[in-house]
Amino acid sequence: MKNDKLIAPSILAADFANLQRDIEMINSSDADWFHIDIMDGVFVPNISFGMPVLKAITKHTKKTIDVHLMIVDPDRFIDTFAALGANILSVHYEACTHLHRTLQAIKGAGMKAGVAINPHTNVALLEDVIQDIDLVCMMSVNPGFGGQSFIENTYKKIAQLKEIILNNNASTLIEIDGGVTDQNAEKLVKAGADVLVAGSFVFKSDDPKTTIKQLKEITNK
Ligand code: DX5
Ligand code: ZN
Repeated sequence: MKNDKLIAPSILAADFANLQRDIEMINSSDADWFHIDIMDGVFVPNISFGMPVLKAITKHTKKTIDVHLMIVDPDRFIDTFAALGANILSVHYEACTHLHRTLQAIKGAGMKAGVAINPHTNVALLEDVIQDIDLVCMMSVNPGFGGQSFIENTYKKIAQLKEIILNNNASTLIEIDGGVTDQNAEKLVKAGADVLVAGSFVFKSDDPKTTIKQLKEITNK
């Protein structure tokens, strides 16, 4: 089995009253990353959790911390998230006026730089900065909530983005976020995805650890 496709369970769907238990489940699972969704109630119509909770989470995590900021003007908090232990920091394309500068600031703070794009955002808009982007977090639902249905147009966007990455000799990873299940995982990696985020599908299953293992197997066979 090759092992280059990554699974990133989203903590948003965890049991917040049993966070340490759910984190340790991920630590001992086949998952590769922790996906952490930070929402401000302005960029998206929901608020998730903030710095004190992330600080408590990273006390227990033993894997890469992949932070997805769904906040306006994310430049304000780049150093804060670096200090909190983020390894990858993704900002939304739609929330950045000077994206190139933001990406340099994220790298300057010692993190990998990610750009998240909403379902309506054309991937071609990333072409001029693609070599500066370590990860594109492609939203396959409208950001703000877990448990939504996957948007089918995503497959087409993955193929378009992959072409841009290859044409520019970039090493950008493609992450798919929203509505990922065992029904679409294989098709997503075949289209060119490298990392699959899964929230509800993992945590609402009877046996989350086995569900992670299954996703890992489906995507790496
Ligand atoms: C949505 C978040 C996702 C969410 C995915 O705004 O960015 O990471 O947790 O949840 P599921 O897998 O339930 O769609
Ligand atoms: Zn996310």
